Amino acid sequence: RITDVRLRRVLDSRGNTTVEADVSTTNGGFGRAAAPSGASTGEHEAIELPAQEAIARARDHALSRLEGEVDSTDQRAVDAALHDADGTDNFSEIGANSAVAISMAAAKAGADSVGVPLYQHLGGTFRGSAPTPLGNVIGGGAHAAEATDIQEFLSVPVGAPSVEDAVLANARVHAHIKELLRAEDVPTNKGDEGAWAPPIGDDRAFEIVDEATASVAEEVGFDIGFGLDVAASELHEDGDYVYGDRTRSTAEQIDYVAEMVREYDLRYVEDPLDENAFGEWAELTDEVGSETLVCGDDLFVTNVARLQEGIERGSANSILIKPNQIGTLTDAVDAIERGAAHGVESVVSHRSGETEDTTIAHLAVGVGAPFIKTGTVGGERTAKLNELLRIEGRA
Ligand code: PGA
Ligand code: ZN
Repeated sequence: RITDVRLRRVLDSRGNTTVEADVSTTNGGFGRAAAPSGASTGEHEAIELPAQEAIARARDHALSRLEGEVDSTDQRAVDAALHDADGTDNFSEIGANSAVAISMAAAKAGADSVGVPLYQHLGGTFRGSAPTPLGNVIGGGAHAAEATDIQEFLSVPVGAPSVEDAVLANARVHAHIKELLRAEDVPTNKGDEGAWAPPIGDDRAFEIVDEATASVAEEVGFDIGFGLDVAASELHEDGDYVYGDRTRSTAEQIDYVAEMVREYDLRYVEDPLDENAFGEWAELTDEVGSETLVCGDDLFVTNVARLQEGIERGSANSILIKPNQIGTLTDAVDAIERGAAHGVESVVSHRSGETEDTTIAHLAVGVGAPFIKTGTVGGERTAKLNELLRIEGRA
């Protein structure tokens, strides 16, 4: 049983405060986890409260339902207690940041108390496989000022024979892009996720990432493509998509993304359209979805009900999984499983504001998610990547 839940404020990678939870159990199990935080958050996400307030509310409402009450190995019971304590459908009472920190810490305490790695505790002995890491190498949008309009250009090492090869390839692409930018005297600032945030247009970024991925692919001897997180809800204003240098109507946005998919053989396109445009998403997925992962982040917000609508309407063939968008690991796993049952592939993801927490690496392996998106460089990103290397090395 859970004996003790402690909550504190810690810093995230942007220097903002976030919630960290420690969970202890009667048989000596211990788990610690911290909530990440988004900048380009979806409007349908669970609610993040200021860290201090989230901690106070969780202490008032949630701890008495957990301490002495639930077994840390029963994740569904832990997460049901969090939902009961909150009483809303978006964790606006105790804060999704408190909820997810406690949920993840309890999972770690559960794994510790039975003496298995977290990925095995979450996935079970018949599951577990290594995800391909998507590496953010150039970015802008809400993650960096005066950089690209498209939020993320992602290296996608589809041909990598192992996670280790994939992680190293993404780092190599990141390094090679710096060389290309320096050769043109372009400043090499970085955005919130450690990607280069150069003051160049999207057109130029496409060319640079294409060149870098092709050149590293030749060097390492396996296929490396690339993809995007357009984060289109951030561009969406009064029905149009507003870029720095031009505005696109919805029809033009669909054509533009489809054209880029064809021109650059994009393997992955996240949030190409607004977070409420289920029908337009379906048009684009119809056009490019047989070859390319069309992934819903702000569209689905890791929410099974929104995913179900997307499944029924054919809006996307992939879902981004961010546990803090929905508040508990149970809800995140339910979304992954609903997706898997309908051919919608999961991409387990970090947030732009992160900590050293490695839970998402274990989640991705445990459920056998085909992809993980957790950056390329920077300590809060390499914490997850290095954990994947440790897990892969264990087998
Ligand atoms: P966020 O960005 O964490 O700032 O929301 C990440 C993403 O959009 O995938
Ligand atoms: Zn996104």
